[in-house]
Amino acid sequence: MKHFLRLTGLFMMLFIASCSSNSDDDDIIVDNPTSTITYTNTINSIISGNCLGCHGTTPSNGAPMSLSTYNNVKDAVTGRNLIARVENGTMPPNGNLTATQIQNLKTWQTNGFPQ
Ligand code: HEC
Repeated sequence: MKHFLRLTGLFMMLFIASCSSNSDDDDIIVDNPTSTITYTNTINSIISGNCLGCHGTTPSNGAPMSLSTYNNVKDAVTGRNLIARVENGTMPPNGNLTATQIQNLKTWQTNGFPQ
């Protein structure tokens, strides 16, 4: 019986070890290699339709920054939690982006902010 338990333990350890070492290849998530989500095609219209009323070239209504250029939007994603704010529904304050619009913003970030 003791022998059996020791063998089982050994198999468990081997099993766990093989599981964890196999996961190395899974680290890179390629969202959709043929994706055409770029700032020009997709992101610009999401932002101009929903955000520029306050985050315009000259921000208004208390908005702290502009979202009117590629760099503005990219900087807000990397430094101002833009994605979290649209996901938790606090931006825009008067409604929500659609699930697709939010997904497009995330894909844009994952793919390295294509222009
Ligand atoms: C009705 C005006 C209004 C609209 C429309 C609006 N915002 Fe805002 N936004 C604000 C105000 C005011 C603040 C500052 C208060 C706060 O952080 O909640 C803000 C803050 C933010 C912040 C946080 C900035 C920081 O440095 O903490 C982000 C990110 C943001 N907005 C993104 C967006 C995005 C993206 C949209 C469009 C999807 C949007 N906002 C639409 C008014 C607006």
